[in-house]
Amino acid sequence: MMREFNTLEVAVEENIAVITINRPKFLNALNTEVLRELAEAADIIDADSSIRAVILTGSGEKAFVAGADIVEMQNKNVLEGREFSSLGNKAFSKIENLKIPVIAAVNGFALGGGCELTMACDIRIASNKAKFGQPEIGLGIMPGFGGSQRLPRLVGKGIAKEILFTGEIINAERAYEIGLVNRIVDATELLVEAKKIAQTIASKSPLGVSFTKKAVNEGTNLDLERAVSLEVELFGSLFSTKDQKEGMSAFLEKRQAAFKGE
Ligand code: CAA
Repeated sequence: MMREFNTLEVAVEENIAVITINRPKFLNALNTEVLRELAEAADIIDADSSIRAVILTGSGEKAFVAGADIVEMQNKNVLEGREFSSLGNKAFSKIENLKIPVIAAVNGFALGGGCELTMACDIRIASNKAKFGQPEIGLGIMPGFGGSQRLPRLVGKGIAKEILFTGEIINAERAYEIGLVNRIVDATELLVEAKKIAQTIASKSPLGVSFTKKAVNEGTNLDLERAVSLEVELFGSLFSTKDQKEGMSAFLEKRQAAFKGE
């Protein structure tokens, strides 16, 4: 079902997909091809109802993703700059809007577009060697794959502006302190931990999880009254599903639920 990619490795084990961005010589920098392939992999995964969670990571010891590809960007004009930003934002929105949760397993540098990619994921797990930052201002540009928007939403405007204006590279502990990452684990345990979280999610009701993701993602862009109405709508519609019947029967019969995502 999964095609071969040039810049990604995609492996599906049981019901969890692991996407590894694979350009280690360039510290997994995001060029047009990586962005196109990420969008394509997201489409393939979204169409496969057997997959329940995604883990996104980078190949090699050093980097998750060291940013957008500076070699490719160097000679772009205004129109090309806009197109590149739009391509990246569309790919990241696809990842953010996947029906299933996406966990970023951040194994090293997550700078510029790399930090932005982690923020399009639902959950961020950092290795103790991970480093985060938005160094674009040092290159005469600014974040172009959503960083000026998702960072303030995640950590608040004040801290976000400090990171965005100084380009300072922060370590995993600081990222944890400001709420940019959910937890820090030893580098050797990173994928094991990410898989544990993915498996826990995969054991729950797929429709419950995906409706919850939709409620959080869409609801946080609405005022509270509308957001609560969205929750009412989504909560109600789950009562037409087999997952709800199964989940509640299993609880009352004191057995494990076997969810089918129906
Ligand atoms: N684009 C293209 N190539 C990159 C790259 C990038 N973003 N980041 C690293 N590389 C390349 C380096 O040029 C180098 O190539 P060579 O071996 O051919 O010289 C190779 O990867 C290894 O990198 P370094 O030798 O620099 O490794 P280091 O350990 O000395 O430094 C680093 C590591 C601090 C991450 C450093 O590579 C670095 O600062 N990278 C750029 C980070 C950055 O500015 N990212 C933001 C990009 S702009 C952006 O992302 C815009 C946006 O929002 C859309």
